[in-house]
Amino acid sequence: MARRNILTKEQPGLYKHCRPVTDFNARLHQLLDDMADTLSTENGVGLAAPQVGVLRRACIVLETNVPEGEEEYLIELVNPEIVESSGEQYGAEGCLSVPGEYGLVRRPMFVKVRAQDRNGEFFEVEGEGLTARCFCHEIDHLDGIVFTSKCERMLTEEELEKGVVEE
Ligand code: NI
Repeated sequence: MARRNILTKEQPGLYKHCRPVTDFNARLHQLLDDMADTLSTENGVGLAAPQVGVLRRACIVLETNVPEGEEEYLIELVNPEIVESSGEQYGAEGCLSVPGEYGLVRRPMFVKVRAQDRNGEFFEVEGEGLTARCFCHEIDHLDGIVFTSKCERMLTEEELEKGVVEE
């Protein structure tokens, strides 16, 4: 595994629509492994292929809603689509491509995603809270959407320091 460089918001690659993955080959597996390595180095909760310069529909999300004592784990999503969503959450969101900045974004509280795994097998996965937010955020990346274009406003320095955000 190797860490890859993360594109930042100034780079046009981040705003491009990504093409579906059609070959579930060693190259895809290498990409997903490298993305996992990159994400853990950066302590992030999600990463999309275009953030490492690959314009293909693949992303990874860390499932953090696990019972106490159990390990968080990565979910690999290839060609993901949101097939169900409900509820609403409003809160701070950030992105490894927009370091140090956070904005308030409205997202569903619950989403169900249909995707393929690294071998092309279809599966469905559900996410709630932060995981739902993360699914939406990463899938947006595959359409060239960065959260800063969806957020109602960015957080101020003062709010960042306090760590408390009120609607
Ligand atoms: Ni992001």
